[in-house]
Parts: sequence; C-alpha cells; structure tokens
Amino acid sequence: MLRWQVSQYDVKSLALVEAPTPEPGPHQILVKLGAVSLNYRDKLALEGEFGRNHELPIVPGSDGSGTVAAVGDSVQRFKVGDRVTSLFAPHWLYGKVRTQAESAMLGVPLPGVLAEYVVLEEAGAVFTPAYLSDVEASTLPIAAVTAWSALFERCKMLPGETVLVQGTGGVSLFALQIAKVAGATVIATSSSDEKLKRVRELGADETINYHKNPDWGAVARALTGGVGVDHVLDVAGGESVRQSLEATRIGGNVVIVGLLQSPRFTVDILPFILQQGAIHTLSVGSRDAFEKMNRALESSRIRPVIDREYAFSDAVKAFQHLDEGPFGKIVIRVQD
Ligand SMILES: NC(=O)c1ccc[n+]([C@@H]2O[C@H](COP(=O)([O-])OP(=O)(O)OC[C@H]3O[C@@H](n4cnc5c(N)ncnc54)[C@H](OP(=O)(O)O)[C@@H]3O)[C@@H](O)[C@H]2O)c1
Repeated sequence: MLRWQVSQYDVKSLALVEAPTPEPGPHQILVKLGAVSLNYRDKLALEGEFGRNHELPIVPGSDGSGTVAAVGDSVQRFKVGDRVTSLFAPHWLYGKVRTQAESAMLGVPLPGVLAEYVVLEEAGAVFTPAYLSDVEASTLPIAAVTAWSALFERCKMLPGETVLVQGTGGVSLFALQIAKVAGATVIATSSSDEKLKRVRELGADETINYHKNPDWGAVARALTGGVGVDHVLDVAGGESVRQSLEATRIGGNVVIVGLLQSPRFTVDILPFILQQGAIHTLSVGSRDAFEKMNRALESSRIRPVIDREYAFSDAVKAFQHLDEGPFGKIVIRVQD
C-alpha cells in the first residue's frame, strides 16, 4: 500500500512511499481510507512543533474516514464493510480528559492516517453518519468535535442564546452551522467581506469584518443591545481574547481553542472579575461527544463546508493550501 510520510522534521520532505499493509491485532480494525482532512496541526507536527522525540518516519493526518477491511481477534464494535471515522484521541472515551494517555492523538504522537490503509483501535473509531460521504465525514474528528464540545460540553449552549464565531476556518464554520440548528443567534467575524457574504448564506445572523473593525468586541456587544453575547469561540488567541471578553455578557463564556493570531495574551484582572465570566480551553473532545454530535448531524443533515478536495497524489499541494486561510476544510481523497 501507499502512505505519505516524513523521515525528518520538515513538511517539505513529505514523500509518498510503499509500505506493508498493516495487520490488525486484538481489538483493532484495518480501515481502507476513503478520505483524510487536514488540520493546521498536521503541518505543525511535521515541523517538530509538538516535540522532536517521536519515532521517524512520521505518517501525518489526524482525521480519516473509510471502510473496515479486516478485524482483529475479539473485535465487537465493528465488522468488515462498516463505514467508520477515526477518533482524534482514540483512548478518550467520555467525560473530561484525565490522563496523558487519554489525550494521545493521531498524527503525533500516535501514527497518522494519510495512507491507503491504517490500523485503528476498535474503541478509537465511530460509525460514519450514513448521509455523509467519506470526504465529508473526514472533516468531523477535529473541527466539528471541537465546535460541538465548545458549545455543548463547555458552554452548555441553549436555544435562543447568542454565539460569536471568529473567522471562516473549519472549526468556526462547524460552530456556526451547529449553533444555528440548535436555535442560537450567531455573529460571525471574518477578515473578508466576500467571506462574510458566504457565512450569511450559511445562516449567520450578523457579521463583522475584524480587519475593518479592530474593536470588533464592542461592535458585537452593540449588536446585542449592549448586553454582550453568551458564548465566544476564540480561534485566534493573542490580543483577540480581549475583544472576545469585550464581546461577552456578564457571566458568559469564552472558549479559547486556537492561536491563529498569537500564543500569548494578557487580561486586565479587575474588569474580568467584575464580568464574572469564564475562560475555557479545550482540546477537541471524547468519543461520547463525537457520537452525540453524530446523532445531531443525522437529524439536522448539516453538510460540512469543504474549501477544496485534492487527489491522494497531490497531498503536498493540500498541505500548502493550509497557509492560505481556507473557507472550511481541505480534504485529500485517498480513493478516487
Ligand atoms: N483546541 C482544539 O481542540 C482545536 C481543534 C481544532 C483547531 N484548533 C486550532 O483552532 C484554530 C482554528 O482551526 P481551524 O482548523 O478552524 O483553522 P483554519 O481552518 O485554518 O482557519 C483559518 C481561518 O481562521 C481565520 N483567522 C485567521 N487568523 C485569524 C485571526 N487573527 N482572527 C480571527 N480569525 C482568524 C481566517 O478566517 P477569515 O479569512 O474569514 O478571516 C482563516 O481563513 C487553529 O489555531 C487550530 O490550531 C484547536
């Protein structure tokens, strides 16, 4: 079989190589991949940003969807022919993550999925929602589960509340779509008026261009009649967190999931105390969260927003696209 790998910490050294098809052991399944979606972390992992002590070569990819091709001894959850999607953290099954082992993720430190076949723990996969293609389902394990966990596991979002989503990447567009079907009012931000037009088509109630309005927190607050939004999904980090807090009502939630702007921020403690809000952080979610989300997807029929699909042989171009600020997800088709 073929797989993509790097033999040194450098995304430019990505190479397509022949490798033996792996065999599933007890409680493991062999999955024939249909599609793999990319996340910015895949690139960071290949560049050694998550440490440089992993076994080389590294196979990238944290999000895969395909069909069970063989099962190992004692497998109970799946049979050959089932359509499955990988779990980002295959040992984190429910509740809050408690140990380092539970938080281990595919595509560093665990082997990635950018290959024709991979072996997964049977516990580390979920059934693919039947209405989604492999290309669509491959976008779920990180971006969609992160959006779901932020809104429903952390913020306990309710219908009628107001949610602010930042930018038009994979996590934010899922959050917009999921929040809308759950009855929220959504304010979306973007650096581009053209993209804001597209998020309105996806259901955003209000939009703000954060380049034209560097004080977008105050603009968002004004859009709620001065009260503030209930929940902000912050993908930018850095000083944008101040704007997120400015946008949020007393007692509201800011969930920081990303660092697209900067990995550091400072907060004025007194106004933050008086605001009595919560800043949460989050790293994707559990299998239980994924399965709950899939039930919601089945009933709402949300279709993931895909910026562009690439052929398996064009994986290098797909990685380059990560730097261009995609609108939604980038997907590599493993089978044509
Ligand atoms: N903690 C977790 O569990 C978790 C899970 C997934 C992702 N993440 C992190 O969350 C972030 C977003 O992930 P993603 O997959 O959605 O990324 P993505 O698809 O690459 O998102 C890119 C988009 O983000 C927007 N953006 C870029 N810089 C921004 C800024 N300074 N302020 C506001 N928006 C900005 C841009 O939208 P516009 O062009 O419309 O402005 C850009 O198109 C990344 O840092 C990623 O590493 C964390």
